[in-house]
Amino acid sequence: MDSRTLIETMPKAELHLHIEGTLEPEMMFALAKRNGISLRYDSVESIRKAYDFGSLQDFLDLYYEGMSVLITRQDFFDLTFAYLEKMNAQNVRHVEIFFDPQAHTGRGISFDTVLSGIIDAFDRARSDFGISAKLILCFLRHLPEEEAFVTLKQACRCKDHIFAVGLDSSEKGHPPSKFERVFREAREQGFVPVAHAGEEGPAAYVCEAIDLLQVQRIDHGNRALEDPALVARIARQQIPMTVCPLSNRRLQVTPDLKKHPLRAMLNAGLLVTVNSDDPSYFGGYINDNFIAIQEALDLNQSELLALGRNSFIASFLSDAEKRAALDVFDRFAASV
Ligand code: ADE
Ligand code: ZN
Repeated sequence: MDSRTLIETMPKAELHLHIEGTLEPEMMFALAKRNGISLRYDSVESIRKAYDFGSLQDFLDLYYEGMSVLITRQDFFDLTFAYLEKMNAQNVRHVEIFFDPQAHTGRGISFDTVLSGIIDAFDRARSDFGISAKLILCFLRHLPEEEAFVTLKQACRCKDHIFAVGLDSSEKGHPPSKFERVFREAREQGFVPVAHAGEEGPAAYVCEAIDLLQVQRIDHGNRALEDPALVARIARQQIPMTVCPLSNRRLQVTPDLKKHPLRAMLNAGLLVTVNSDDPSYFGGYINDNFIAIQEALDLNQSELLALGRNSFIASFLSDAEKRAALDVFDRFAASV
């Protein structure tokens, strides 16, 4: 089986995906029209042309602007279901999705509107496609910790629907330590902690995420490789890392994918997975990320299968669900 067919047919999970980052320019236009909002672009092509980012902040500025077209429960349903339909076509069997409630409540959209639209789509995808989904609420790290506490209070009313809390947005200058108290409270309330760390920020931020936030997964983590003792620790504890190759290329974290650290991560014994982050903005969904990194690093079949298997091991599925998913995966692997 050639690599592309293996990637496309392999059962897999996606663990690093911002639902607002799946907003395709076509849907942005359609929702702007439906909601009577004017955009500063006159065509889908001119939006795509603007997706030329020099840094994470360049991207975030457009990302927050783009999501201003999301207003109603139906909008959040349409956005989420469109992503899950694509994942069904890409043989993704399980997803763990980030959402940024503060980016919506900050412009007058209620927490419940956002959450109910997303959960409606999860329910429909489970019944239509058999895809399972978990939701991760991200605190925006450029905002004060007090505002994260307000958001956590809203999440505590909806524990049935929110599994984990994460940390995203502008990393530099906003270390995990800024959110130590709200993460402690979130853990006490039963939410599983994860955080973006070491995307643009230094290895020390990854240490803080582990030590202070007690994260059970590191989102990105690229710059952890600058600290060998930290790498050894992450490998020993098998803390999963959610790596996003096309994001890293588009945000100039690793402009040349041939120099991407994914193979070094695998060789160091890290539990790494491949994900898409914000696929509409970065040029591809999960299978495109697998294909791009396979071509850049010439990954072989057993490396691709290890990455696919890791996606289930690194997930927050229950032990029984993991065993069932890995059974299916191992039957697939034996057939290639
Ligand atoms: N929000 C959406 N995508 C993000 C990323 N790659 N890093 C930090 N915050 C984000
Ligand atoms: Zn991300």
